[in-house]
Order: sequence, then C-alpha cells, then structure tokens
Amino acid sequence: MKIDSKTKLYGLIGHPIGHSLSPLIHNYAFKSLGLNCVYTVFDVLTEKLEDAVKGVKALGIKGFNVTVPHKENIIKYLDVVSEEALKIGAVNTVINEEGVLEGYNTDVYGFIDSLKELGEEIKGRKAVVLGAGGASKAICVALASEGIDSMVIANRSVERAKNLSEYVEKEFEVHCDYCSINEVEKIQEIDMLINTTSVGMHPNVEDSPASEGVVSRAKFVYDLIYNPFETALLKHAKKNGIKYSNGLSMLLNQANYSFKLWTGGFFDKNLVYMHLKEGITQNL
Ligand code: ATR
Repeated sequence: MKIDSKTKLYGLIGHPIGHSLSPLIHNYAFKSLGLNCVYTVFDVLTEKLEDAVKGVKALGIKGFNVTVPHKENIIKYLDVVSEEALKIGAVNTVINEEGVLEGYNTDVYGFIDSLKELGEEIKGRKAVVLGAGGASKAICVALASEGIDSMVIANRSVERAKNLSEYVEKEFEVHCDYCSINEVEKIQEIDMLINTTSVGMHPNVEDSPASEGVVSRAKFVYDLIYNPFETALLKHAKKNGIKYSNGLSMLLNQANYSFKLWTGGFFDKNLVYMHLKEGITQNL
C-alpha cells in the first residue's frame, strides 16, 4: 500500500471498537479497485464525540462509519441527515462533502439485500424480532417498509419492545405486537425469526436468545451476529433442518452501500466475502 499526500482517509467511530471487521472489508475493497484510500478505526468516548466530528472536518477525513454507542448521538453534530436515517433515528455512514457532513443509514438496505440474496420474501410474512435496541429498529424499519404482514418484537425489557412496536405501528401502519423475550415460547406461527440481541455473541457462545422448540417452529432464522460464525441459535436451526443465515451478509451489504456513498461505486461482494472469511478465521 502506498500512502501519499493524495491518500483519502476513512474510518469507523465507536467505542469499544476492538473486533470490528470494517477495516478488513474497506481496505481490501480499496486495494482491489486500486483506490488511493485508507480505512482505520477511531475509538471515541461519548464525551469526545463532538470534538471527534470537528476533527473530521479540520483534518479533511473524507467519510466515516458510526457504530455503538454513537449512532443516535452523532445526528446532532451533522449538517445534513437523510430521510431514512432520521426515520430510524440512527446514522451509520457519514460523507464529508467539502466540509459539509452528510449522514445516512445503510443498515436497512444492507438487511433487505441480504434477505433478497437468500431468496427470502418479506411481503406478506410474519416475523418475530428478538431485541428492541438500535439494531432491531433498523431491522423493523426494513421489514415494515418492505411490506411484512405482521411482526412481534420480543425483548428482555418489555418497555423497550412496547416503544418500538408503537413506533412501527405509527410510522408504517403495520400490525406489530410486543412481548417479553420469554413469551416467544408461546408464538406458533413464525415465518422469520430474527435475532438482533447480543445473546450468543462471543465469548458467550453457548447462550441462545430462543429455545430449540421456538426455532423448530420457524421457517427461516437470521442472526445478526457473525462472531461466532454459527451461534447456538443457528445451531438449533441447522439441527432442525431450517434455513438460516448469520449476519455476515448484512455486514457486507451495509459496508457496500457505505462504500458506494464514498466512492461512487460498489465493491465486488464475493471477492471481499472470501477475504473476510479468511480474516475471520485468522483473527476472531
Ligand atoms: P444494538 O444497537 O446492537 O441493538 P442495544 O441498543 O444495546 O444494541 O441493544 C441490545 C439488545 O440486546 C437489546 O434488545 C437488549 O435487551 P434489553 O433492551 O432488555 O437490554 C438485548 N440483550 C442484551 N443482553 C441480553 C441478555 N443477556 N438477555 C436478553 N437480551 C439481551
């Protein structure tokens, strides 16, 4: 890699930032397309977020991704925010257009594309979404805006599930119930079971946000987690012969939309996926 005075700088702002795969994705994509760009990570505490944004402008950093816990807070420091990002209340991609910072959310499109690639229709189906945090909101917006028939949001904190479900019903006029995560046991009809919680994530790989009984009733299971590659939830799906996917496809798709916003073009997903898989087995 040749870094010179023309090299464009991109990065990820979050905290903690330890195991992010974004540098692996973007640097490989830049390299494979011969772009003089570099992507790095910035571990930024909440109280330093405003200064960090000022730093982006002052240093002429061309763009950045935003992750936990700054996706919501960043909005107030940006100059322009897209309609989708405002609707979700979260930004995961920022472009620096000559000192004007524009915020977008590519998670929604990333998830919709993943389901399309897997041949999973959203229209007319019944989804159960586990979790009611930031990631869940993007998933719920994706499902609701693509014509899901109905959904149930199940969360440890029922209050949070209730708030998100009310938001979905109000914004999209989609029937959206809510319940405690334990009450998922009672749901019989599950076309799609989607985990957006952190339950089962490394190092707690034995934990599952839903029992095997629940999983066995689902027609399709998607886990946003990709570390481990196959969570306990997905192992239940595999054992019961149910179609499933981890969150790597969404990670790649949302990254590709960010990449497009920054460079004007997409990267080759298959090429980057192969590189990522290799990187994961070596690093995670
Ligand atoms: P993100 O932006 O990744 O969604 P978040 O907003 O902190 O992060 O949300 C994390 C989600 O995982 C929440 O739904 C959380 O449930 P609570 O709202 O009740 O906190 C869920 N979660 C995290 N740890 C959990 C656990 N041990 N059991 C059940 N749910 C858990």
